[in-house]
Amino acid sequence: IVRSCSSLSPQIPFTVKMRTGVYADKSVAHELVPLVEEWGASAVTLHGRSREQRYTKSANWQYIEECAAKAQRMPIIGNGDILNFEDFNEKRKIAPHVSSIMIGRGALIKPWIFKEIKEQKPWNPTSAERFEILRTYVNYGLEHWGSDTKGVENTRRFLLEWQSFLYRYIPYELLAHPPQQINQRPQKFRGRDEMETLMSSPNSADWVRLSEMLLGPVPESFEFVPKHKANAY
Ligand SMILES: Cc1cc2nc3c(=O)[nH]c(=O)nc-3n(C[C@H](O)[C@H](O)[C@H](O)COP(=O)(O)O)c2cc1C
Repeated sequence: IVRSCSSLSPQIPFTVKMRTGVYADKSVAHELVPLVEEWGASAVTLHGRSREQRYTKSANWQYIEECAAKAQRMPIIGNGDILNFEDFNEKRKIAPHVSSIMIGRGALIKPWIFKEIKEQKPWNPTSAERFEILRTYVNYGLEHWGSDTKGVENTRRFLLEWQSFLYRYIPYELLAHPPQQINQRPQKFRGRDEMETLMSSPNSADWVRLSEMLLGPVPESFEFVPKHKANAY
């Protein structure tokens, strides 16, 4: 697949995303990276866990470094468990051969994580500022999918999926032990205002309420079950 896709699109870089392997005790990425480079891939993103591990255990950044060191010129993008700028700095130190870092759940839980990394300090947005981020998203959604019933409900579905990540954010000033870690079960807390409390609710009926503030009431018999289970605890 890598050979044919890389030669099919010489102007468009073909990149590969992989895990350490299928099984936790049998990593194969260090053997695959040099082959994938030889077959013509432009870059590899490596998530430092096996398929078997799903989100349990921490990503193995020492192993990501070992794999990155096996590439000749092809960039290796490291991936796994970054939720704050301190994580980013620590992972860069462990894995100096990675060319850059990909952030998955961290970008969904804290969409401003890139600002924190750039400025090397935490940002502690108010609930009103966080609500404005949702409003911006909703405006993009309606622009993209249309503001008819179908567009509104599509925008709502994606907003609700996103809220299944967003609720896990704990405001910096309320953290018992900052910074927040991605693999820690979120501590229970009461927000500094009603909106902050609502935004931290793990109950999907509350996510629907939030969506109604931006998109109006849900249709009758509306049901929502989040798709992606990405907790490690
Ligand atoms: C909502 C969601 C969808 C994902 N979809 C894919 C996918 O289609 N293909 C894939 O290789 N990884 C997928 N992943 C895994 C991420 O790319 C990433 O490897 C993983 O979440 C670990 O990075 P993180 O700790 O920064 O989240 C998905 C993750 C999330 C949270």
